Amino acid sequence: MKINTAKRLDGIGEYYFSTKLREIDALNQAGKAIINLGIGSPDLPPHPDVIRVLAEEAAKPSTHAYQNYKGAPALREAIRDWYQNWYGVDLDPATEILPLIGSKEGIMHICMTYLNEGDKALIPNPGYPTYSSAVKLAGGIPVPYELKPDLHGEPDLDALAAGDLSAVKLMWVNYPHMPTGQLPSKNFFEKLVAFGKKNGILICHDNPYSFILNDNPVSLLAVPGAKEVVLELNSLSKSQNMAGWRVGMLAGAKERIDEVLRFKSNMDSGMFLPVQLAAAHALRLGKDWYDSVNAIYSRRREKVFRLLDLLGCTYDRNQVGMFVWAPVPDSYQDGFALSDAVLYNANVFITPGGIFGSAGNGFIRISLCCTEEKLQQALDRVQHSLTTVNA
Ligand SMILES: Cc1ncc(COP(=O)(O)O)c(C=O)c1O
Repeated sequence: MKINTAKRLDGIGEYYFSTKLREIDALNQAGKAIINLGIGSPDLPPHPDVIRVLAEEAAKPSTHAYQNYKGAPALREAIRDWYQNWYGVDLDPATEILPLIGSKEGIMHICMTYLNEGDKALIPNPGYPTYSSAVKLAGGIPVPYELKPDLHGEPDLDALAAGDLSAVKLMWVNYPHMPTGQLPSKNFFEKLVAFGKKNGILICHDNPYSFILNDNPVSLLAVPGAKEVVLELNSLSKSQNMAGWRVGMLAGAKERIDEVLRFKSNMDSGMFLPVQLAAAHALRLGKDWYDSVNAIYSRRREKVFRLLDLLGCTYDRNQVGMFVWAPVPDSYQDGFALSDAVLYNANVFITPGGIFGSAGNGFIRISLCCTEEKLQQALDRVQHSLTTVNA
């Protein structure tokens, strides 16, 4: 008997990292002790008070039931205050905020809510691979747009507007951008909102990195009138070191939130209340929290810069976020070749930029989610492998 998968899975491969991690596991079992500088999962813990709130709430007999589909009021209010304090954006906690089980699920929910078979969605190239898979799984067609180096990593909106946008319903944007670490200009955010309005395109902004190595967190919803055409995803995964807890959020106009909820409420049955209450506590942490995490990332980034120097890469020292992005030197064919050379010669894994789209082929990405000691070890190994190769 042959069991066939649904057509919607055609062209959807296993997530790159799950395949690569299997190879790394096999190398580890063969005694290689690979240092993994690939994945952006924070290795640092959340604030201790956040863990205390989780434990206290979980110990209560009354916190174990199914939860409200729209999330606990305490979490929605904490999200409202967080958006107000850090981004200067007013949101109504009753109607304009939807807590999510991580922002990744929100990408899928948005695609399922708005895309019909054959509808197009603009996605960044390079960009987070989930945008393209979610668009395809929803029956849509991803249309990559390039991030122009001469426009500081922004797309050329005038060129896009000059093309045929008739089937385009959504545009995915992500600033600070992963993987390039580029920040948006204020002017660009205003142009983006105007572009969405003029062309009837829902602009979906994915904003999980705004607090990492960046002193000036910005929301696309801060542009006047943005709620008419913008939905914004945000996350506690990176800024609060809570990736495994799965807490994110969607913010936007009441109508949009209600539309997405029509889909989402058929997919899951809410989030564990103690997780929501602990997340609310995390969102109320002050500047000290972000400063303390960023001080660590900043020291790590210096080590990564040295590693890139060793590899002969030149790079932008002003990039932000949880990774460093760098073009590969001419001596390698592309990022895949450099990543493999470093994996097999130095037992260090770095991500080839090509997994983020064709425009990333000539680049690599190094994660900051690794201790300074491990990064030093990676540096030593790469240094040693280069001396051996050149000897
Ligand atoms: C650009 C981008 N968006 C979204 C996500 C998903 O984050 P979450 O843990 O909130 O699902 C990631 C995670 O790596 C990411 O890099």
